[in-house]
Amino acid sequence: MSKWLSLAALVLASRLSFPVVAYTWPDPAYDVLHEFLWKDLTFFLATPGVCEPLGTDGTSPSIHAQWLRTAYHDMATFNNGSGGLDGSLFYELDRAENVGLSLKATIQSVFNQQLGKYLSFPDVIAAGAVVAVQQCGGPTLPFKAGRVMAAGPGPSGVPIPTDSLAQNIASFQQQGFNQTEMIGLVACGHTLGGVTNVDFPNIFSGGNTTNPISPFDGSRNFDNQIATNFIDGTIIDPLANGPAISDSDARIFSSDGNATIERPVPR
Ligand code: HEM
Ligand SMILES: *[C@@H]1O[C@H](CO)[C@@H](O)[C@H](O)[C@H]1NC(C)=O
Ligand SMILES: *[C@@H]1O[C@H](CO)[C@@H](O)[C@H](O)[C@H]1NC(C)=O
Ligand SMILES: *[C@@H]1O[C@H](CO)[C@@H](O)[C@H](O)[C@H]1NC(C)=O
Ligand SMILES: *[C@@H]1O[C@H](CO)[C@@H](O)[C@H](O)[C@H]1NC(C)=O
Repeated sequence: MSKWLSLAALVLASRLSFPVVAYTWPDPAYDVLHEFLWKDLTFFLATPGVCEPLGTDGTSPSIHAQWLRTAYHDMATFNNGSGGLDGSLFYELDRAENVGLSLKATIQSVFNQQLGKYLSFPDVIAAGAVVAVQQCGGPTLPFKAGRVMAAGPGPSGVPIPTDSLAQNIASFQQQGFNQTEMIGLVACGHTLGGVTNVDFPNIFSGGNTTNPISPFDGSRNFDNQIATNFIDGTIIDPLANGPAISDSDARIFSSDGNATIERPVPR
């Protein structure tokens, strides 16, 4: 299920609006970025232990899951060269499709503190996705900076669990992903975190519904457990094991006869 190339596409899915020039050293912009991304000094990387395998208790949120969802919600409304990972989520937090304190908190109290001369809001959001995946045991996704912050809200249309499969396929097409990539991207997103019950009170899960969060799978890491659980019938993902109308993960994962979700992890 190692569809991380789709994730890479997510992080890269944004038009750079200035010409990219060859790297020269020293370059203060790159130095800031490297320090920000890979040195264990900043708050960004020092966020403690959120991906440790704490089990399925569903009582503590995964900060890194929140960061990855934030990047996806900013990017998901990409359409024909506009929108995308442009920070417009900052202006869109009151939309129903962006429900959840996790997006608000990430944007308004975490990422907003990381901005700087060389780091735009959308660069921080993209970096957040890179750091989240990597810190949770996933691959190191390629990262480039240079995104320009949106001047205002962009189009709406982030997928919601009650969308039909046809709507999902059309939406991901617009985002730049075909059906195979959609399956990989959703599975790689939903290997982290879960559904916060106050945000989606009608979505029950096979997990413990008395808890604030119903995890997508039994591990906090970036791994293929959501896929193996789906295949072997032990899935606790509330979007694959809840009311049929909101079982978007199940619809998506099985949409190609399970070919992608069953594909072995490439070595
Ligand atoms: C059809 C597409 C999708 C639907 C319908 C969907 C739906 C949802 C829902 C309902 C939640 C729970 C949010 C909450 O409780 O507030 C969620 C969480 C999440 N989603 Fe998606 N999602 C989709 C695609 C994606 C993609 C492509 C990614 C990333 C690549 C992603 C990343 C996440 C993450 C990381 C969480 C966990 C957040 C947390 O635990 O705080 N999702 N998604
Ligand atoms: C996409 O954007 C280009 C350039 O802005 C425009 O010429 C074209 O008509 C657009 N295509 C669609 C389908 O909207
Ligand atoms: C999607 O594109 C990938 C290559 O990028 C290809 O391997 C795959 O077969 C395509 N899937 C569909 C449904 O077209
Ligand atoms: C659900 O979680 C709560 C709080 O963590 C716990 O008290 C309860 O026993 C759990 N129920 C089940 C069925 O696991
Ligand atoms: C795909 O997997 C799911 C979960 O195991 C199963 O319910 C479904 O029947 C499978 N679909 C196909 C076409 O094999």
